[in-house]
Amino acid sequence: NTMLSWQRTAFHFQPEKNWMNDPNGPLYYKGWYHFFYQYNPNAAVWGDIVWGHAVSKDLIHWLYLPLAMVPDQWYDANGVWTGSATFLDDGSIVMLYTGSTDKFVQVQNLAYPEDPKDPLLLKWTKYSGNPVLVPPPGIGAKDFRDPTTAWKTSAGKWRITIGSKINRTGISIVYDTTDFKTYEQLDTLLHQVPNTGMWECIDFYPVSKTKANGLDTSVNGPDVKHVIKASMDDTRIDHYAIGTYSDSKGTWVPDNPKIDVGISTGLRYDYGKFYASKTFYDQHKKRRILWGWIGESDSESSDVQKGWSSVQGIPRTVVLDTKTGKNLVQWPVKETESLRLTSKKFHMKVGPGTVVPVEVGPAAQLDIEAEFKIKKDDLEVIFGEDSLEADEEFSCETSKGSTVRGALGPFGFSVLADQSLSEQTPVYFYVTKGKDSKLKTFFCTDTSRSTKANDVVKPVYGSFVPVLKGEKLTMRILVDHSIVEGFGQGGRTCITSRVYPTKAIYGATKLFLFNNAIDATITASFRVWQMNNAFIRPYSADDST
Ligand code: FRU
Repeated sequence: NTMLSWQRTAFHFQPEKNWMNDPNGPLYYKGWYHFFYQYNPNAAVWGDIVWGHAVSKDLIHWLYLPLAMVPDQWYDANGVWTGSATFLDDGSIVMLYTGSTDKFVQVQNLAYPEDPKDPLLLKWTKYSGNPVLVPPPGIGAKDFRDPTTAWKTSAGKWRITIGSKINRTGISIVYDTTDFKTYEQLDTLLHQVPNTGMWECIDFYPVSKTKANGLDTSVNGPDVKHVIKASMDDTRIDHYAIGTYSDSKGTWVPDNPKIDVGISTGLRYDYGKFYASKTFYDQHKKRRILWGWIGESDSESSDVQKGWSSVQGIPRTVVLDTKTGKNLVQWPVKETESLRLTSKKFHMKVGPGTVVPVEVGPAAQLDIEAEFKIKKDDLEVIFGEDSLEADEEFSCETSKGSTVRGALGPFGFSVLADQSLSEQTPVYFYVTKGKDSKLKTFFCTDTSRSTKANDVVKPVYGSFVPVLKGEKLTMRILVDHSIVEGFGQGGRTCITSRVYPTKAIYGATKLFLFNNAIDATITASFRVWQMNNAFIRPYSADDST
């Protein structure tokens, strides 16, 4: 349907048509990045799930390949569900995935490339002894899915974890194996958190405490922390926590029990729309890359009308924030910058209560990098004796969005806006004075005025963002027609939103800078790039050369 075609993205991965959900088994092999995904070949809604497949040389331009796996066995008759890839010591690949059986039981299956010499990994063989794992005693037949990439134990075995729940407790079941065909369940769980419900798509990996590069999933030792991520079926949020893994016990404990997986005081990869994510170690460029499924925020009937549903977020590198030691930092892969076309630089001082157009031409495909400074005198006056009340309670999500004015914010950009600002999506900082009289900064995105359409969920997203002494406030925003990805403070806090403007489309799309603070003058230094289209198209024989 061409009426809704402006919502298609220009540089985000999405299939030609129909429904997509989770990223599956991402890996790098013989010069190609492989991306598999949960896909419905028949409709723009979830169902009939198979593995779609695409390859790329740079994680940005993609070539669609034939479906990698379809339900053709009793043990995956109701869907070839989410799974992960592992490289064995000899460089060969094994894929573990969940099958929904002919009786809707969730089981784990093994598959491997039919021809390891084929860089495109076109054909997949399902192991004749499948399933390799069935729900263990005490686990519901429909609560056992999404095996992780395997990692090595010090005893030389492979270890995986699979998400489940017992009553309302989300759990992470652990198995050891040597051949991926037979498994031994550990007596302990990797982790569990009460009242979090079913854990989908668990991810478990090491991050370096000292180095900026990523680590192979099997790396362990004193320089390493371990991250657990679980996708909460109940809330559709990807929660992570940082902690310590015990190889001998097969358990993990959070550094701070108040920042545990899935609890309200814990951390999220992204405070917007972002789910069922999965990382992989890119051995080619020594980095860990995060993929996340970005679903729609409009109605199912709109999706059916437009003939497609969902995009994937721009792949992000993920590392431990060595400055805080308490959170991860995520950043669009470097290759994203290859799409940057012309750019303009700006340096603007904006007084309280101002909105200024930023003349960049059409603003539907942008990359923005910005730095903000609050005028020092203003800060001192505002922070002087009791002149500003402590605002401990602020939260982006429960606030009324970017129209609510505080002493020190909000300020930022309105993206995907039309000329009259009747549609706009503000991405902004809001600085408050905490009870301890210290600055506390929030990074938010307000989608409440993003569209005139009435079938869209339009929340205010966001969270606290750590700002260390001497740091300027920085943000990066990727804008691509119906997706906005915001990275606050170098990627400490990230917000992805889907927005559906009806007027702010193509050439009519504008960018604005605003400062809605009551008292503070803001200086903004920023650069805006026009972004090129990525090619995302079917593979043809010419592509092999
Ligand atoms: C997460 C999920 C997984 C499951 C897959 C099915 O979105 O529900 O738990 O394997 O999607 O498509």
